[in-house]
Amino acid sequence: MKILVTGSSGLIGSEAVEHFDGQGHEVFGVDNNMRREFFGAAGDTLWNLERLKSKAKRFKHAAIDIRDRAALEELFKLQRFELIVHCAGQPSHDKARDIPLLDFEVNALGTINLLEMTRQHCPEAVFVFLSTNKVYGDAPNEIPIKELETRYDYARPEDFGGVAETCRIDRTLHSLFGASKAAADLVAQEYGRYFNMKVGVFRGGCLTGPSHSGVELHGFLSYLVKVTLTGGRYSVFGYKGKQVRDNIHSHDVVRAIEEFAANPRPGEVYNLGGGRANSISMLEAIARIEQLSGRKLDWRYVEEARKGDHICYISNLGKFQRDYPNWKITRNLEGILQEMVRAQSTPKLHSTRT
Ligand SMILES: NC(=O)c1ccc[n+]([C@@H]2O[C@H](COP(=O)([O-])OP(=O)(O)OC[C@H]3O[C@@H](n4cnc5c(N)ncnc54)[C@H](O)[C@@H]3O)[C@@H](O)[C@H]2O)c1
Repeated sequence: MKILVTGSSGLIGSEAVEHFDGQGHEVFGVDNNMRREFFGAAGDTLWNLERLKSKAKRFKHAAIDIRDRAALEELFKLQRFELIVHCAGQPSHDKARDIPLLDFEVNALGTINLLEMTRQHCPEAVFVFLSTNKVYGDAPNEIPIKELETRYDYARPEDFGGVAETCRIDRTLHSLFGASKAAADLVAQEYGRYFNMKVGVFRGGCLTGPSHSGVELHGFLSYLVKVTLTGGRYSVFGYKGKQVRDNIHSHDVVRAIEEFAANPRPGEVYNLGGGRANSISMLEAIARIEQLSGRKLDWRYVEEARKGDHICYISNLGKFQRDYPNWKITRNLEGILQEMVRAQSTPKLHSTRT
C-alpha cells in the first residue's frame, strides 16, 4: 500500500511509519515540526524524524504544513494514497487557550483539507482520524464517582467498563482544543456518512509510548518520567492527585488503525484508550515511576484543577472490540512504564532532545 501519515514525527505518527514500513508498505510522512512551535525546544520532534530516517527503509518525508492546501494538492496529485493516517495536530487542551486561531486552523481546517484532498484525489482510500476524548468535554465528570485511597473510580456498576461513544459531545465545557477536535471529528464522520468514504474516527484516551516528545502541556506519562529522571518540579493540578487516566501504547493504537484499514466501516467512531486495566491515577503514577527509576520526584500540588479536566476517564473499548475482535491491548501499563523509564534513561535515543 501507499500510505500517508500526517504528524509523522510525533508519537502516533512515528509508530505508524515504523509499523507500516516494517510491513513493506510505501510510507510518506508529513510533519513540519510544529510541535516545537507549540511547546518550545522540549517539544522538538526532529530527533524522532532522524530516528525514522535511519530506521525505516522506504520512508519519505515532507515538511508540509497541513494548513497549506496548495502544498497538499501537489502531494496528492503526485501520489495516489490508499491509506491516510491523520495524526498531525495541536494536541494540548491547555495550550489552545493561548492560540485559539492557530489551534482551530491546525485541528479543524487541517483535517478538512486532508479529507477534501482524499475525496478529490483518492476517494476509495481509508482515512483514519486521531480524535480525542476531549470531544466529550467535561460530560464524563457527571458520572457518579467514589473516592478511594489513591484514586477516584466510578461509583455505579454500570459505569465500570468506562465511557462509551454514546456520551454526548455538546453542551459541555471542552476547552478550545476539545472544540476544534470536535469540529474535525464531526467533519470526518460526515465525509464517511455523507460521501460514504472509508473514514474512521478514534477518540483517544491517553496515548503514550517512548517516542513522545513529552512536555508539561502534553504527554502526561512521558513528561512525568522525564521530570523524575532529569529533575525539575512537577505540578499536579487539582482533584487531590486522584484523577484517573487510561493509557494505551502507541503500538496498540496503530494496530487498531490497521484493523480498521483492513475492514473499514464508513463514518464510524471508536473510543480508544488503555481501558480499565491500563488506568492509573496521578498519585499512583508518581509512586510507580519513583520505584522504577529509583529517584524521588519533586512535585507540588496546585489546588485548582485544569479547566474542563476529566476527574476519572476510562475508555470503554467494547464497541471496537466487538467490531474488530482480532484487536486487543497487548502492552500493559507496567510494561509501558518500564519501557519509558528505560528509553528516557538512554541518552542515545533522545540525544537530540533538549
Ligand atoms: N497523545 C495523546 O495523549 C492523545 C490523546 C488523544 C488524542 N490525541 C491525538 O492524536 C494525534 C496524535 O497525537 P500525538 O500524541 O502523536 O501528538 P504529537 O504532538 O506527538 O504529534 C503530532 C505531530 O503533528 C505535527 N504537526 C502539528 N501541526 C502540524 C501541521 N500544521 N502540519 C504538519 N504537521 C503538524 C507535530 O510537529 C507533531 O510531530 C493528535 O491529533 C492528538 O490530538 C493524542
